[in-house]
Amino acid sequence: MSASIRTTLAPGAELVTDPGRGLFLTLEGPDGAGKSVQAAVLAERLTASGRSVLLTREPGGTPLGERIRALLLDVETGERDALAEAMLFNAARRQLVMDVIRPALDGGAVVVCDRFADSTLCYQGYGGGAPLDELRRLAEMATGGLVPDRTVLLDVAAEVGLARRRGGDAAQLTRFEVGDTHDLAFHERVREGFRRMAQEDPERWRVVDATVGPAEVSELVWQAVRDLLDGGQRA
Ligand code: TYD
Repeated sequence: MSASIRTTLAPGAELVTDPGRGLFLTLEGPDGAGKSVQAAVLAERLTASGRSVLLTREPGGTPLGERIRALLLDVETGERDALAEAMLFNAARRQLVMDVIRPALDGGAVVVCDRFADSTLCYQGYGGGAPLDELRRLAEMATGGLVPDRTVLLDVAAEVGLARRRGGDAAQLTRFEVGDTHDLAFHERVREGFRRMAQEDPERWRVVDATVGPAEVSELVWQAVRDLLDGGQRA
């Protein structure tokens, strides 16, 4: 099992976390891929297998993060600079890492997170045009170098995902699912970003076809993390 926490230490600083404990799993994908449902199923299955599990999501997961989330998803906040938007996502992320994710990993839990730093690279970067190197620097600051042990991409064509979302309750649509800026071309760039990242780092990423039935997707997600679990829980 690979280390969950990669920390850059200043000379002479003490390593205060045990990077060998816990396991950090993230689910990523375009809108309408079914991540939230699959994250919940995965967390249940991990719990049933006797592991201590923490399920969380981005943006959100802390009182500050949920307030930032409301702002970020608001359809009324007008045009936004992609980098400014990325900073808000990263502010919420930093709070979540500090208050929730790191303590859980340090305690040996399996953390399942519905979206993480890769979403900012794909939405604000590939989708919104913010420079990827700047986004990587922001993410490094927000996460303190925490990288998931496994990221499962629930892959679905942009128009299929959007149609799923838009076929539901219109009041639940976020600013990323309505409006001219976030059109089909935006969502296609986001999807291509995810696929490219998965291709570039096949050790961390697994790609799952999210267009098959939900039960089959759940099984594929389970298979995508199984190799990390085979040694049993570390803590
Ligand atoms: P949410 O309702 O949680 O959608 P989903 O279930 O698809 O995750 O809304 C999150 C939206 O925010 C989603 O459209 C993706 C977008 N997003 C970003 O643009 N950048 C980010 O860094 C994150 C985490 C999410």
